[in-house]
Amino acid sequence: MGSVQLTGKGRRWLLKGHRWVYRDDIAGGEGAPGELLPVQDPNGNPLGWGLYSSASKIAVRMISSETEQPKRDFWAERVRRAIAARGRMGLLDPNGACRLISGDADGLPGWIVDLYGRVAVAASSAQASDRMRDFLLELLVEELPFELDAIVERSDASIRRLEELDTRVELLQGEFESPLIVDEDGLKYEVDVFEGHKTGHYLDQRVNRRRAADFAKDKKVLDAFCYDGLFGIRAALAGASEVVCVDQSAPAGERVLRNAERNGVADRVRFEKGNCMQDLRDRAEKGESYGVVIVDPPAFARNKRELAGSERGYVELNRRAMDLVEPGGMLVSASCSYNVRPELFLQFLSKAARAAGREVYLHELRGASPDHPYLLALPETNYLKCAFLRVE
Ligand SMILES: C[S@@+](CC[C@H](N)C(=O)[O-])C[C@H]1O[C@@H](n2cnc3c(N)ncnc32)[C@H](O)[C@@H]1O
Repeated sequence: MGSVQLTGKGRRWLLKGHRWVYRDDIAGGEGAPGELLPVQDPNGNPLGWGLYSSASKIAVRMISSETEQPKRDFWAERVRRAIAARGRMGLLDPNGACRLISGDADGLPGWIVDLYGRVAVAASSAQASDRMRDFLLELLVEELPFELDAIVERSDASIRRLEELDTRVELLQGEFESPLIVDEDGLKYEVDVFEGHKTGHYLDQRVNRRRAADFAKDKKVLDAFCYDGLFGIRAALAGASEVVCVDQSAPAGERVLRNAERNGVADRVRFEKGNCMQDLRDRAEKGESYGVVIVDPPAFARNKRELAGSERGYVELNRRAMDLVEPGGMLVSASCSYNVRPELFLQFLSKAARAAGREVYLHELRGASPDHPYLLALPETNYLKCAFLRVE
């Protein structure tokens, strides 16, 4: 078994409660790719156990500060705790959908498991989580309160390259009918677990879609960067008079229309394929206005290097979105870039308001749905900002 010794800085960092050890903070030792190994301070005193990566800048992800080696019971308890938490959130519904395991935030680094009905979609993004795959899925099946029809592996996120891992997308067990339909409290939608984004769907926006729908009654709604159109369809179900969904993805657009049909709102929901940056400008030039505008773009700052450039994108996008909100209407503006911290995002929105010449009030600043927990010890688990802005 390998082991690593930290530098004094690495030790201080861990003692402050942080869970990741960067390679620069390792003074000596090493392990096999993905190995669970003991971590020591510069004098060889034990600091706990972590999962080693031979490739990533994050060399070790700490999982325990105990001296005893974590064994099967330890991992079973982590899985049980994650599932129990979703149960208390009322999300363990064999027809619904939720994130069952959210990686580091649930003490299971590198592992995401999303549940769509009775189909679990597992995504691994680290050497250690690859190594633990079969074992973890076994625990999951044991701990879930209902039987699964199938398990799919969807390990194809680009982050795997940092761990020098190939992509893997396959049906691991069982079978299920296509299209896979989720029923989330009456909202029905299909999920493409093999080809769709992430594990097939953006579960993190669930609570924000519901909240946005509170402002939609009798309003015209623009859902920009709509993906499967679920902000828009929730709004239509809440009584929006007309919903326009825009995205550059044609397959997503086809799902928007089928989802609208499924929910009985096809007469009020339409999809327009396009580049939202240009589309929003064109709509403003035509004099269009909406009671609710949603902008939920992909991450503009995927790393620190992209942060400076992302400002222009966020400010310009939100300025254009504000141009389209009727006085007193609501702009729902999201950013899923971890590197854009909440205060900075508000600064970007404030610049956008100045550029748009509008008086803009922060109604609520929200985060991800609670099944994507924000572990306070690991600020990286707080990535999604969703600002509800009243635009006068
Ligand atoms: C974060 S997802 C949106 C999730 C969606 N709002 C939901 O609730 O499921 C971002 C979406 O933006 C789309 N997209 C990325 N760049 C775009 C662009 N320039 N114009 C239009 N759509 C774009 C992607 O296809 C993706 O569907």
